Amino acid sequence: MNISDLQVKLLDLVLPLARTVDMMSPALADHHLDVAYLALRIGEKSGLPDTDLQTLVVAGMLHDIGAFSLEERLDILEFEYRKPDAHCRAGYELLRHFEPFAEAARIIRYHHIPWDNEAGRKLDDATVPLASHIVHLADRIAVLIPKNVDVLGKVSEICERIKQQRGMRFHPELVDAALSLARQDSIWMDIVSRSVERPLTACLTTSQHTATLDELLAFGELVCRLIDFRSPFTATHTSGLAATAEALGERIGFHENGRKLLRLAAYLHDLGKLAVPLEILEKPGQFTDGEWHTMRSHVYYTFHALAALPELDQLTSWSALHQERLDGTGYPFGYTAEHLPLGARVLAVADVFVGITEDRPYRKGMPEDKARSVLADMVAKHKLDPDVVRVLFDDFEAVNSIRAQAQESARQAFEAFREDLAKPA
Ligand SMILES: [Fe+2]
Ligand SMILES: [Fe+2]
Ligand SMILES: [Fe+2]
Repeated sequence: MNISDLQVKLLDLVLPLARTVDMMSPALADHHLDVAYLALRIGEKSGLPDTDLQTLVVAGMLHDIGAFSLEERLDILEFEYRKPDAHCRAGYELLRHFEPFAEAARIIRYHHIPWDNEAGRKLDDATVPLASHIVHLADRIAVLIPKNVDVLGKVSEICERIKQQRGMRFHPELVDAALSLARQDSIWMDIVSRSVERPLTACLTTSQHTATLDELLAFGELVCRLIDFRSPFTATHTSGLAATAEALGERIGFHENGRKLLRLAAYLHDLGKLAVPLEILEKPGQFTDGEWHTMRSHVYYTFHALAALPELDQLTSWSALHQERLDGTGYPFGYTAEHLPLGARVLAVADVFVGITEDRPYRKGMPEDKARSVLADMVAKHKLDPDVVRVLFDDFEAVNSIRAQAQESARQAFEAFREDLAKPA
């Protein structure tokens, strides 16, 4: 397998991520994309160089990624929100370890700091980047834009609200740039007609090279953190799956790149969970039908996000088919065996295995004999691939300890993340 077949640029992957996060509720519309677009236009008007614009767009696309619950997401969509700081810090802590996004993380850290007559140039001893003030202004304009009504008829009202806060909440020169942009109908029409993706993609892909597999893996680790660290219920799941899938791949005889691709497919397999509100992820009791449908739809959203990049076809067919079953009873497509590639079968086995053996806050993982019998039963019912399960059974203890170790180090990283957030701002 030749990894150059993927032919994808790293920043191409940010857009599907942003889109997924906004699928949590129709009320969120395309908030992340709208903010990124407005930030881009204000940044251009203010004369920012291309590389800074790219970082600004990444920050705009991910600025609220640290708001985990639907309640928090809806709160910060109000012009007068209640508590903006927590999601800024969480977003920063999640993103800052991925070197290519370190600067975007800093922008996100400060994206609700008011200008406050220049006091907002700094917070404590740190300099607040100008780009944070751009995201802040773009964000507040975005929440004032009405969807589904005559947007052009609302422009003067929006401008008035922004002007009232010139120099207070917002950087005065950025307000001037925004007010001058506001005269272009196209800015508003791009947003309400959902046409912001093309300019964003054009900005992101400028002078980008095709990502190497190792760069994609580092990005995958970031996505793994974004998905898992929302909740103690999910905190180590993806890390356990990635290690297990790779271990199985090695025993089946996948070559190095194939094993890395398995790991990457595992990192991305629950991408669609970013669209599942925390309120459902952490529900202690039984799901209602509606909640179960939302939960189940996460695999479709994983597919939807990855399928936007045809270069990732093979990866998508491994990653997004992990809930399919050989007998056609899985979801979201109900595919049968002939449509399920080996990579997808490995992920399906690994996902069931990790799901039943991992400890969760409300229950302990299954011991070996019980886990073996669950998996054997699924093979007997023609749900899981018998060869993949046999490989797992042949070396159960070793694979299980690889899983447990990966989950233990993820747990430590999760605790460090929580401790950082608990420190006073
Ligand atoms: Fe925000
Ligand atoms: Fe926002
Ligand atoms: Fe999973």
